[in-house]
Amino acid sequence: MLAETVLAGLLLASGAAAAATPGVVIQKCSNPGMLALAYDDGPYQYTSQLVDILDQAGAKGTFFWTGTLYGCIYNQAAAVKKAYASGHQIASHTWTHPYLGQLSESQIRTEMTKVEDALVNLIGKKPAYMRPPYLDTSGAVLPTLKAMGYKVITDDIDTGDWNHNTPAQSEALFTQAGPGGNGHIPLMHEVYNTTVHELTPWLINWAKQNNLKLVTVAECLGDAGGMYQPGNFTPNGQTTCS
Ligand SMILES: *[C@@H]1O[C@H](CO)[C@@H](O)[C@H](O)[C@H]1NC(C)=O
Ligand SMILES: [Zn+2]
Repeated sequence: MLAETVLAGLLLASGAAAAATPGVVIQKCSNPGMLALAYDDGPYQYTSQLVDILDQAGAKGTFFWTGTLYGCIYNQAAAVKKAYASGHQIASHTWTHPYLGQLSESQIRTEMTKVEDALVNLIGKKPAYMRPPYLDTSGAVLPTLKAMGYKVITDDIDTGDWNHNTPAQSEALFTQAGPGGNGHIPLMHEVYNTTVHELTPWLINWAKQNNLKLVTVAECLGDAGGMYQPGNFTPNGQTTCS
């Protein structure tokens, strides 16, 4: 009995560790009963409103931000600080949103360290999680991200908001997938007003109806304390993207 308990404990511990290993692609939560709303491509003009919508629902979300795709991240400093202060997870989506698999290791590192520098300047933290643009994990991507300590997230439901899916079409994908099993990590984008103002409220309601807790990606992997790289980082004073 004792041996079984110990063994179960070890299995659980190794499962949780495997779910958040740097450089290994993670598509969904490692536990049932949750949903990890995860938004790419910001910060942008809807970030602050999205934080309000999540906060009012008592939900936590995850933001995979770039440095420059929809304008310079420093121009959204207030929204960035607000999202962090509200307890949402801040994660990286690279500096310029390239196909990382076409880059050398040193170019990939630059894409990541520029976002790290910006986030140290804005919130004092370096992210521990990233989602590769276009979900491109080819070439030198995974070994480089592993060496940098990054946990790599893709998705298990692509809402297709980037491909002109309407909110109703995206919602049908969740209805089809269902609320059971380990929690979903959807691919969606905060740069579309409909994703922020229609799909997100629908998902909050869907989660409520199905007793799903709305948590960060790190929390849904049993890694709530590991949202950021360990260490104290000193801002370098940069306030522009150039
Ligand atoms: C975004 O959607 C909301 C709600 O439908 C609407 O009130 C608002 O005007 C829209 N904003 C833009 C910029 O289209
Ligand atoms: Zn993207």
